[in-house]
Amino acid sequence: MEQEPQLWNNFTGVYHIDNHLATNNIIPGQKVYGEQIKEYQGMEYRIWNPRRSKLAAAILNGLKTFPFNENSKVLYLGASTGTTPSHISDIVKKGLIYCVEFSPRMMRKLVDLSQIRSNLIPILEDATKPFNYLHLVEKVDILYADVAQPQQSKIFMENMRLFLKEEGKGILMLKARSIDVTRNPDEIFQEEESRLKTAGLRILQKIDLKPYEKDHMAFVCEFGF
Ligand SMILES: C[S@@+](CC[C@H](N)C(=O)[O-])C[C@H]1O[C@@H](n2cnc3c(N)ncnc32)[C@H](O)[C@@H]1O
Repeated sequence: MEQEPQLWNNFTGVYHIDNHLATNNIIPGQKVYGEQIKEYQGMEYRIWNPRRSKLAAAILNGLKTFPFNENSKVLYLGASTGTTPSHISDIVKKGLIYCVEFSPRMMRKLVDLSQIRSNLIPILEDATKPFNYLHLVEKVDILYADVAQPQQSKIFMENMRLFLKEEGKGILMLKARSIDVTRNPDEIFQEEESRLKTAGLRILQKIDLKPYEKDHMAFVCEFGF
């Protein structure tokens, strides 16, 4: 690779390389989901695919608040096999990502990944029952939710209240079709937004994830107090 990787918008650990987003691979030589690898001056970068990761899609679509840093503690709901968690793991090098996932099939791969990436803590649990993992998770700087469930806003708010530090940030990847496939997604986004506001959250930004994801909106939130 010829071009020097540039930091994206001063976001810690997020690079812009040859027109792609990328993160600095903390486990050189190991890919996670078949992503492309680029090398520059002995450093390895994993290309971050916005069609595989909604966080990458949100960044490319203009995310302004990037709350992650090297030491962040993150609670991640709906971690699946670890595609997005693996990029967060590159960014949050000295922090921790508590990864909640209720599918045993996904969890098997996540456990394998956590054996290579020690900042990923896999938790086989249901995000609708946060009291089940209250004893396993500390207060976090960032709550990230991507569960694609009808109750996704409720799950997000309950976990925020239990686990997020007062000054923390929440990122909800809202999938309209998981709430109602027959209704106009814009109406659903508006309803869910009022639900979040009524519960006392301040919405810092809303980002439509088109063209990478259809009928998805990212909400970046904090406590309104
Ligand atoms: C859209 S996928 C997540 C993709 C992942 N966030 C990524 O970007 O790599 C949604 C995941 O949420 C999980 N999920 C759905 N409902 C859940 C719940 N109540 N508790 C825990 N995990 C849940 C599903 O099993 C699925 O793996």
